[in-house]
Amino acid sequence: MPSLDAIWENYICTGELSREEIVHLLELEDNGEQARLLNLADRVRRENLGDEVHLRGIIEFSNYCVRDCLYCGIRRSNRKLVRYRMTPDEIVATAAQAVAMGFKTVVLQSGDDFYYTGPMIAEIIRAVKEMGVAVTVSAGERPRTDYVQWREAGADRYLLKFETSDAALYNRLHPGTSLDRRLRYLRDLRELGYQLGSGNMVGLPGQTPATLADDILLMGSLQLEMAGIGPFLPHPATPLQGTDPGTMSMTLKVLAIARLLMPRAHLPATTALGSVNVDGRRAGLLAGANVLMLNLTPLEYRSLYEIYPAKAEIRTEPARLKAEAEELIHSLGRQVSTGYGHGYLHEATNVNLSLATEKPPHWACLARGSGSEGRG
Ligand code: 5AD
Repeated sequence: MPSLDAIWENYICTGELSREEIVHLLELEDNGEQARLLNLADRVRRENLGDEVHLRGIIEFSNYCVRDCLYCGIRRSNRKLVRYRMTPDEIVATAAQAVAMGFKTVVLQSGDDFYYTGPMIAEIIRAVKEMGVAVTVSAGERPRTDYVQWREAGADRYLLKFETSDAALYNRLHPGTSLDRRLRYLRDLRELGYQLGSGNMVGLPGQTPATLADDILLMGSLQLEMAGIGPFLPHPATPLQGTDPGTMSMTLKVLAIARLLMPRAHLPATTALGSVNVDGRRAGLLAGANVLMLNLTPLEYRSLYEIYPAKAEIRTEPARLKAEAEELIHSLGRQVSTGYGHGYLHEATNVNLSLATEKPPHWACLARGSGSEGRG
């Protein structure tokens, strides 16, 4: 049985973790060992990215969705949900408020809603890009021609989670589609030059430490520039109602291991993590995360974007959310980034060029070899 120490020793020399080692780390118990893992991830985050935390403002512009994902509260079959669509003008006006508040990234998120044509969303992207911010789009699986147009309109990033790397589980959870198809979309987006964001849910029914290890390895092999890792939270209006939610502890371990394997990726302390525990986002920021995503959806719509129940931040005004996030960041002795927070593969476009100097994960190993630093 490998020990945490042995795994760390090997990791700092190679930058790698085997599937078996990841499974071992995921099975660490809450007896001090787990806390050590989270601390090591915090250290890797600091060494590679410093103490800046990036704030992203999300606008959830439509809760219509053609998909029927078994876990999701806005799935097509949930007839109880009141549906809304923001007009392009409303979306652009909300983005302008975000920019006025100082956000450097606006995330445009929705269900898979084909009411918005490719050109409609391209126009929205163009209008938001004129405000001088980075734009992330998260509008699901669309024809490649839409992705092309949106990129041409200036979209910088795309967020499309793979949710689970277990093909059979993916199939059960996502009727009528497949993991292969999802991965094809991700490859397309990468080819088109998007900064690529993806990620998973932790605690899905049927998931095991082995499949979670595969999730983390998949994130690494996709060279994600952003990975969203959140606990699964059963929604009462879905077929998964009554199943167990993902735990904060397992989510933090997945986050920490993802940080070890992706030392320079942007990893948010997710809203879902903040929903499973009041201290979830703080704990995430101390276990490898370096991003907070704040919900700027107008309050009249926000409670309707109920992908999971009891979503945090459902009633808080944007200015207050931002103030609370800043307070959290400062209380950890960290700073709010003033840059765009682009992905590490796209830093030529980043104002902060100091981060562009490569710092491989084996720095500590080299230092140890020269006798200047021991393992800490
Ligand atoms: N619990 C947790 N996360 C969920 N998502 C959707 N439904 C749930 C749920 N019940 C997440 C998925 C999706 C993102 C927008 O929200 O990971 O990609």
